[in-house]
Amino acid sequence: MSVTDLMHARVSTRAFLPKPVPTATIRDLIAAAGAAPSGTNIQPWQVHVVTGTVRDQICAATRTAAVAPRERPEWIYDYYPKTWRDPYLARRRACGWGLYGLLGIQKGDREAGLAQELRNFDFFDAPVGLFLFLDRDLGRGSLLDCGMFLQNLMIAAVDQGLATCPQAAWVPFDALIRSILSIPDTQMLVCGMAIGHADPAAPVNRFRPGRLAVDEFTTWHDGQTSDSEQ
Ligand SMILES: Cc1cc2nc3c(=O)[nH]c(=O)nc-3n(C[C@H](O)[C@H](O)[C@H](O)COP(=O)(O)O)c2cc1C
Repeated sequence: MSVTDLMHARVSTRAFLPKPVPTATIRDLIAAAGAAPSGTNIQPWQVHVVTGTVRDQICAATRTAAVAPRERPEWIYDYYPKTWRDPYLARRRACGWGLYGLLGIQKGDREAGLAQELRNFDFFDAPVGLFLFLDRDLGRGSLLDCGMFLQNLMIAAVDQGLATCPQAAWVPFDALIRSILSIPDTQMLVCGMAIGHADPAAPVNRFRPGRLAVDEFTTWHDGQTSDSEQ
């Protein structure tokens, strides 16, 4: 597949097979991710890969924390706006209902919604979990660098026949994850990610949220009339 085809083939996968992924393959994905550009090449990303019992320990601890609402920590950086408004609110809702529709979750069924949310904290059964951290004292621009790193990793994964799901859901559990992985509080969790083999039989993996057409978010300032181009 061309790189463009890989970009279109990448999807967020929310059901994985238990099939393990060789460490060498994960290393290759991280190397491809590390080829991402970063402002003045500071390469601010700090990667933690969790598998086996460490992965299981993090999943169990986070699930416990996630169902104890009063203990639920704050988001450490504002990935989402404090107040939602359209058109973003409508798009967000369409995404949520599309996903829930495939899973047969009815509007208002909070228990089923919570159960699906908690699936994040099993990495959707993926055998490999990845956490991306950043030194807290860096500028907001480093979040851009991290985004490029993560996208590179996800595209490289498709190239290897692997699937991923980027997971901001882990971010509020930054302190818990740092304590288990012995990461100092000078760093903050930017994003988690599930990596593995997609379960082709799982209905949730058929979810394909649509995209806007190019001209819905692009303004062309070419200074020419269409006639003068010809
Ligand atoms: C930074 C980031 C964080 C995300 N966090 C989550 C998450 O915590 N849980 C989840 O199920 N999906 C998460 N997603 C996936 C988005 O819902 C998904 O990218 C979007 O709906 C578009 O679908 P697609 O990735 O399949 O094209 C995240 C995506 C990004 C880019």
